[in-house]
Amino acid sequence: MNRTAAITAVGHFLPEDRLTNADLERMVDTNDEWIRSRTGIRERRILRDPDKATAYMATEAARELLDKRGLGPEDIDLILVATVTPDMVFPATACLVQDALGAQCWGFDIEAACSGFLYALTTGAKFIESGKHERVLVIGADTMSRIIDYTDRTICVLFGDGAGAVLLEPDTEGYGLLDSVEYIDGSGEPFLNMKGGGSLHPATHETVEQRLHYARQEGRQVFKNAVVGMADAAVEIMERGGLTADDVRYLVPHQANLRIIDATARRMGLPEDKVMLNIERYGNTTAATLPLCLHDWEAELKRGDNLVLAAFGGGFTWGASHIRWAYDGADVARSYLGEAVVAQ
Ligand code: ACO
Repeated sequence: MNRTAAITAVGHFLPEDRLTNADLERMVDTNDEWIRSRTGIRERRILRDPDKATAYMATEAARELLDKRGLGPEDIDLILVATVTPDMVFPATACLVQDALGAQCWGFDIEAACSGFLYALTTGAKFIESGKHERVLVIGADTMSRIIDYTDRTICVLFGDGAGAVLLEPDTEGYGLLDSVEYIDGSGEPFLNMKGGGSLHPATHETVEQRLHYARQEGRQVFKNAVVGMADAAVEIMERGGLTADDVRYLVPHQANLRIIDATARRMGLPEDKVMLNIERYGNTTAATLPLCLHDWEAELKRGDNLVLAAFGGGFTWGASHIRWAYDGADVARSYLGEAVVAQ
């Protein structure tokens, strides 16, 4: 059988601090009913410590993963970090994570906004499939609160902070990442961007005055494109793999908006109980949404489960992938967290 890249462990990090809809009601002209009905979000996690940022959360997620798998940093060959909120323009966040972990490997960042983790997964898998590497760490991490304008109600209600990580290892029994499709369309740039701080608009007093250091979007345009892009990619991956709705155990969707997720699930013919949803608790954590879902559902996942991952984000970027899950998550949860947690 072909050598595929299987996910063999999952880790996560979420800051303790919560930003609820009630908190936001005190900050901007919004209300809980509007936020919940338009987005599905109740609260988000926020990394308040100004001395910590994306590399810190990514490192914590990686540490949890290594601990669960019983490995050390010396076992990692490659670190990929998907993020649009790197600690700094350079060095790459992957370098900071490597140093913090004490790993001896190489790595780089992948910047594809909300599709970043999906792209990083495809990229990491190639290094396993080719035989170049045995263990690739793929991390999705974003500290969105650092680039969000908390005076702009059209965007500040959507995002939260967090990190998720997966380990890719070789498999020769037909498990792991079996297929993927990826797309970009740069004509989406005007609808979702952060212009300040790049080489076109380097940070100046003017860029700060114009608030170019904050993410901005035309929500309705993004929404329209996301509904079509995410659903099209998910259906395409099902068709390519000959998967029916019955064959799919879970849709693992990017958590941007409950209505985008519902539309994707409907197009795939999936009932609600086959959709991973944690947007209510974390909001949109950009590159972290997919691995955070995998983390939250790990105990439910069984060897052989077919998962369809789908995402859409700034760029525009979008895509989907088909994973045949490689291990019984309940066993890991039982040994790592103890029987009590699994029983809940
Ligand atoms: N609270 C109260 N009212 C609000 C808020 C708010 N937080 N935000 C906007 N409104 C108002 C608008 O001003 C508008 O008022 P008006 O009709 O008087 O002009 C009204 O609500 C409707 O605004 P719309 O933008 O049409 O609302 P919509 O139903 O499209 O929902 C939303 C807005 C939630 C942003 C939606 O368009 C969306 O989710 N878009 C996708 C954006 C996204 O997820 N971006 C993240 C990155 S990309 C990705 O992850 C897919």
